[in-house]
Amino acid sequence: MKIGFYDSGLGGLSVLREFIKAYGSRYEYYYFGDSARAPYGERSKEELKTFTIEILDKMQEEEIDLVISACNTTSMLLHEIDLEDYLFETMGLFEVMQDYFNNDLKASLLKDLQTPIALLATSSNIDMGRYKDWGMNIIPVKCPELVPLIEAGKPDEAKVIWQTKLNNLDKTIKHVIIGCTHYSFLYDPNNAFEFIDPAKLCVKNFNKTIYSDKLLNFSSKKEKLSLEIEFSKTSDEYLKLVDYLLSL
Ligand code: DGL
Repeated sequence: MKIGFYDSGLGGLSVLREFIKAYGSRYEYYYFGDSARAPYGERSKEELKTFTIEILDKMQEEEIDLVISACNTTSMLLHEIDLEDYLFETMGLFEVMQDYFNNDLKASLLKDLQTPIALLATSSNIDMGRYKDWGMNIIPVKCPELVPLIEAGKPDEAKVIWQTKLNNLDKTIKHVIIGCTHYSFLYDPNNAFEFIDPAKLCVKNFNKTIYSDKLLNFSSKKEKLSLEIEFSKTSDEYLKLVDYLLSL
């Protein structure tokens, strides 16, 4: 089985990384990062929809069995795209989060729906406002500075800004949603906050949903990791960054 991941650039590698950790060579992986047009996080909904359709068409050509939208921002638009003509299954981070809230978090940790949860995300993500569907007390925090820094190979500078954003949160906030896959490379799990990372939830979701029933049957079980990574714009420096981020 071939799993395809896509994002605006490097962020979705954090999702790919979780799959490789969990399943190794059991599946074949294909990754597409639209680095020529990153960041996506300040773009209009219409633009993002057009880009997503182009990427899905590409996934069809690559004969992918399951496409994972490893981009929080565009995963919010998947339900507005006609997916019927595509031969692959899809899974988006937004639906993964939705499932987690409805089935896990509300049932256990956060019985009190007034508990404030910070959502650190791109501007487009927050402006689309779909987090309001979760029925929880979400405090949105836009972080437009972070993705450009990561894409430019300056994750350490991004980490400093990230930490400032956390320090500025209201002191009643204990839970933080990693609302953009690029940020998964920034957080320290030993921090005082409880982080909710869709990249990690995606693997759990994959395990327990229809994808496992329908698709596990044709897992490839190859000895060697089959991984193809493609970007719409690249350079030697950028590829070094890819190796670095996947090694974290
Ligand atoms: N990593 C993507 C996300 O999860 C896109 C970020 C961007 O390009 O601004 O939203």
